[in-house]
Amino acid sequence: MDRIDEIILERIKRDTVSGEELSEILGISRSAVWKRIRKLEEYGYTIDRNRKGYRLKEGSDLLLPYEVRPYIKTNWLGKNYIFFEEIQSTNSFARENDYPDGTVVVAESQTAGRGRKGRKWISVPHRGIYASIILKRNINPYVLPVFSLLFPLAVRNVLQEVSGLEVKIKWPNDLYVNGKKIAGFLIETDLEGNTVQKIVAGFGININQTEDELSWILDTATSLHIETGNIFDRKSTLGKILVELEKRIDSFSPEDTIREINEGLLWKGEEVYIPDENVHGKLLGVDNYGGVKILMENGVKSFYSGDLSLRKVQKKE
Ligand code: ATP
Ligand code: BTN
Repeated sequence: MDRIDEIILERIKRDTVSGEELSEILGISRSAVWKRIRKLEEYGYTIDRNRKGYRLKEGSDLLLPYEVRPYIKTNWLGKNYIFFEEIQSTNSFARENDYPDGTVVVAESQTAGRGRKGRKWISVPHRGIYASIILKRNINPYVLPVFSLLFPLAVRNVLQEVSGLEVKIKWPNDLYVNGKKIAGFLIETDLEGNTVQKIVAGFGININQTEDELSWILDTATSLHIETGNIFDRKSTLGKILVELEKRIDSFSPEDTIREINEGLLWKGEEVYIPDENVHGKLLGVDNYGGVKILMENGVKSFYSGDLSLRKVQKKE
């Protein structure tokens, strides 16, 4: 979708406009206008056609720039907005290409959505929000573990606001609702020496997926729709997330971030373990450096690596 499509939409939004008129305004042939109308219909727009011409009847539900822009009330984040109907992975695209700070890459579906450690992120087409944010800022690498927590915090706030559900943060990179995963974050950093060149912060959120669509991971995964029975507007939700993220990035405070994370931390005070690390104990919270503090038999210890996984010890009946 490009500028010409957007002009067509603007024109046919209020009036019926003939193909001839559109072709004159745009300086393209009538058959080119017709092809573009067809393409817009494929993008989900409902367009009335009669002898007098074309008229927009209903907008599209897709996260197209034209649709989401009115909700992106930000100063810099998302001003450059790149949309794909399908892509392998928005994170891979954002890493492999050179786009300016604040660019947002959004896809309706991903054929190779990634989680941590090469795990797969299932991206049901048109149901979730799959996006990556590009930041090019010289953030101190030591602050990165705390800075990265700002992304789940921002998304958590917005999901709670739009759904009324209680959303918990599973350290370091997941959001949970009623014990199941609703969103995941993949924050990847390109360093040169000790200098951060680029941060790609990707997030996948389950919004309108049905139980059937998540059937094979239903034991561990859920969506806003499954939890509430409602259908959510992905466009305004994405806009709110970008607004919230910009606010948090602009006024980033490690202390406030840690405090908020601890307020919404999943399994706080409960028995947890870290597979493969022989770590077992009570989850006390997140420390000032973004690590998890665990009370073990031999005292309190913090763990930092973003590659670690927390698991809850299941109580025996
Ligand atoms: P941990 O974060 O503790 O390592 P995890 O299993 O959540 O555990 P991640 O790498 O964070 O691991 O996330 C990838 C996992 O997320 C996959 O192994 C898969 O089980 C799960 N997953 C994939 N797609 C979805 C989805 N759309 N919704 C919820 N969970 C998903
Ligand atoms: C996880 O749960 O481990 C992280 C999942 C992150 C998924 C998102 S979807 C958009 C972006 N592109 C990807 O390939 N991954 C992230």
